[in-house]
Amino acid sequence: MLSQAGVGSRKEARQWIGAGRVAVDGKKIQTPDAWVDPEHQRVTLDGKPLRAARKVYLLLYKPKGYVTSYKDPDGRPTVYDLLKDVPEKVFSAGRLDLDTTGLLIFTNDGEFADRITSPESHVPKTYLVKASMLLTDDQLDQLRRGVILADGPTRPADVKRVRDSGRYTFFEITITEGRNRQVRRMVETLGAKVLKLVRTEIGNIRIGDLQIGKFRALSDQEVRGLT
Ligand code: URA
Repeated sequence: MLSQAGVGSRKEARQWIGAGRVAVDGKKIQTPDAWVDPEHQRVTLDGKPLRAARKVYLLLYKPKGYVTSYKDPDGRPTVYDLLKDVPEKVFSAGRLDLDTTGLLIFTNDGEFADRITSPESHVPKTYLVKASMLLTDDQLDQLRRGVILADGPTRPADVKRVRDSGRYTFFEITITEGRNRQVRRMVETLGAKVLKLVRTEIGNIRIGDLQIGKFRALSDQEVRGLT
C-alpha cells in the first residue's frame, strides 16, 4: 500500500515498517505482511496519513497474440508488457481471447472494474466479426434473439450486417453479457467460425484513433459514462 501510494519503493516501505514509522489506525505495525484494508483503515507514515492511491483508468487497444494475464506459462507476450510504463498497479476489467483484438480497460479502481465486468450491470460491448462463411438474414436474426450455449441461453443482442465480401460476412454484434468466448461460441451455433474478432466499443467508449498496441487515459466523462 505504501509503494502504491507512491511514497517510496517496496524495499523502502519495508524498512520504514521495520523502523516503526508506520501505523495502522494509530497502532504501530512492524511486520510488512500485516493485512491492511485501505478503504477502512487509516495508515500513517511518521504520523502523516497516506493519501489514497490516485485512481487510474486506461484504455488499451490489444493486439492479437497477447494474453490477458500477468504471466503466461508458455512465455507469450502479455497485455501488461504494453503497459510497462504505467507506474500504478493496474488490472484489466475483463479479458479478451489471445486472438481477439480491441478495447480493454485497465484500472486500479476495484469497484469500477466490478461494475464493468459484473454480469448484472449489462454494460454493452460491441464486436466486429468476420465469419467464416456467408450468413443469411435468418442466421443473424438467431443471434439477435439469442442462442443456446452450453452455459445457457444468451440475452438478445444487437446485430448489424456490415458487408458480405467473397465468402465471408462481416457483422457487428453488441452483447450485454461477458461470458467466456461468448461471441465465438454464438457464431459456432450457426455452423460458422469467427475468423477475426475486434472489440470496438465498451459502453460509450470507442477505439477512435487509438493505435493498436497503444493505450490512453479515459476522460472523466468516459469514466462517468460507465458508472
Ligand atoms: N467473445 C469472444 O468470443 N472472445 C472475446 O475475446 C471476447 C468476446
